[in-house]
Amino acid sequence: MRDKVTVPAIKARKHGTKITMVTAYDAPMAHIVDQAGIDMILVGDSVATTVLGRPDTLSATIEIMIHHSAAVAQDQPRALIVTDMPWLSYHVSIEDTIRNAGRLVREGKAEAIKLEGGRKRLPMIEALLAAEIPVMGHLGLTPQSVHSMGGYKVQGKDLQAAQELLDDARALAEAGVFALVLEGIPDVLAQIITQEIAIPTIGIGAGPRCDGQVLVFHDVLGLTTNHLPKFVRQYAQLAEIATRALQQYSADVQAGTFPTDSETYHTHTEVARTLKS
Ligand code: KIV
Ligand code: NA
Repeated sequence: MRDKVTVPAIKARKHGTKITMVTAYDAPMAHIVDQAGIDMILVGDSVATTVLGRPDTLSATIEIMIHHSAAVAQDQPRALIVTDMPWLSYHVSIEDTIRNAGRLVREGKAEAIKLEGGRKRLPMIEALLAAEIPVMGHLGLTPQSVHSMGGYKVQGKDLQAAQELLDDARALAEAGVFALVLEGIPDVLAQIITQEIAIPTIGIGAGPRCDGQVLVFHDVLGLTTNHLPKFVRQYAQLAEIATRALQQYSADVQAGTFPTDSETYHTHTEVARTLKS
């Protein structure tokens, strides 16, 4: 058994081997991810779309995140558990932010939290770190900003936007964030950020030069039949496998070939005889 993955261990991987992260939202998913030797499990607010069928992540609440984080933690994975702070749980006040993050740690058994945004989130990030809650940053295409971005669009494409992103990344790293997700930005920008900051970058749609990669469980395993962005590589088509399996089950029930004798409980012959009489 390899050692439990910790926040300092992830930080120390900056100049080491690539870091892997996959989302999970319940105990069996966490078990599958952990068995694969993935370094970090992200209990993403993507639970709102992948599991709850909602159109975006804005409806994720702290209660929902606690519920799914606790389910993941139940499996006691070796992987580090990072849980997303949902929209509005870290925007209102510092006090509210610490209470919400504290609930993710205490009730959701999160070992670190992730939140979206750059320099404007610094007061909240500093307060969380002062409260001993490790923070992972998330810059670029930040899905909680869907309305202000005007949709899910690649970020940091022009010089000014790229410079802003680089400055945000530097500020988060200097504040003490232990790792930084870079989502939906050009490869060269991700490469420069990765070179310029002392903490690991974890890319999703940010090219191959990041210190690690993250993907959503449902995307990487083909559990969604929705359109997928081009940065997703599907390593399995689990939805198709599951549908075919259930078609077979349905056919067996119709044909009377399920359940068989060995799949059935039996009673003593006398009991059966007496019941019938
Ligand atoms: O919620 C999520 O799944 C995420 C990843 C896409 C980074 O934040
Ligand atoms: Na998220």
